Amino acid sequence: MVARIALRPFLRVLNRARRTRALKKLKSLLSDRLFSVKTAAKLGIADLLEGGPQSSLVLAAATRSDAPSLYRLLRALSSIGVLSQVDDDRFSLSRLGNALRSNVPGSLSAIVITIGEIHYQACGELLHSVQTGAPAFNHAFGTSLFEYLQQNTEAAGAFNRGMTNLASLLANAVVLAYDFSGITSIVDVGGGEGELLMKILELYPETSGVVFDLGNTFRSPKRTVHSAERCSYVAGNFFDSVPEEADAYLLCGVIHDWSDDLAVVILKNCRKAMAKNGRVLILEMIVPKARSGSFSKILDLNMMVMTGGRERTNSEFHALLDAADLRVTRIVPTMAPQSIIEAMPK
Ligand SMILES: C[S@@+](CC[C@H](N)C(=O)[O-])C[C@H]1O[C@@H](n2cnc3c(N)ncnc32)[C@H](O)[C@@H]1O
Repeated sequence: MVARIALRPFLRVLNRARRTRALKKLKSLLSDRLFSVKTAAKLGIADLLEGGPQSSLVLAAATRSDAPSLYRLLRALSSIGVLSQVDDDRFSLSRLGNALRSNVPGSLSAIVITIGEIHYQACGELLHSVQTGAPAFNHAFGTSLFEYLQQNTEAAGAFNRGMTNLASLLANAVVLAYDFSGITSIVDVGGGEGELLMKILELYPETSGVVFDLGNTFRSPKRTVHSAERCSYVAGNFFDSVPEEADAYLLCGVIHDWSDDLAVVILKNCRKAMAKNGRVLILEMIVPKARSGSFSKILDLNMMVMTGGRERTNSEFHALLDAADLRVTRIVPTMAPQSIIEAMPK
């Protein structure tokens, strides 16, 4: 694979692949500390500490916060390793806290904010989902997740940037695991801001692509210099149709948003649209059959609550793709928790 793709971008990817480990950091930021970490992210504390330690008084003035209360938050964050308390009243960033800066590669700031706001509220209603089988998000917010995001610009901004945070971690793992040579056109279905597709196009100069999404994700697309001109953004609804004649249809974190019936509609639309010898590439975690612990089993509850979706086992993916007239050709593990499920027409 190395010989067929642009070498310098590939070396950059190798260099950054260690960012994939930031998923571990995310887990520790999201555990029982979520409410304090989210508050720090929302106030932009990590960005304010970028230049070195600051006192709680300076930080309170910069964030227009109540100084004694902010001091208590900073002290608590220091006690769990997100900050370091350098003396009585001055705080600095720890390595973990550095991931909360908004503009560093591998930033987790936006994902922590979106999870700490809408996910946190909806997950508090898990009981509703377990008792009714319906997404608790709709119960808590009075509408579905994606309708809510269409109507709330600020929440949509945090959600889309949060998805981009995760995609930027995953993208390196995907391009290291899967050889895209020979694929000349890609549609990133539900591609958000287009982070993953951009990474692929950066490495494969012969390939062009379309980010296909509802449209509210295109407000702040992140364009990298070399690949931007080969990437276009098309707004639409994947339950109606997807852009035609591509060699590959990427579905990253999309299929797990939906029940089997709805996921099959999306997959059938990809099947109908694809070029001869086309393929779908689904990027999702695979729930192990074993009774062992797995993050996918926790994420599955998140999908139940947020959209009525689910994480799936290997055999559930086979059945889903079979129902869309596709067959699984390969399952490629990556160094991230997600695998690439490749499928082609039967
Ligand atoms: C979980 S996000 C994944 C985003 C992106 N693939 C990534 O990995 O960062 C799901 C995406 O599906 C998009 N989406 C939801 N419903 C859609 C629809 N009916 N048609 C097209 N896109 C949709 C959302 O706007 C969102 O960007």
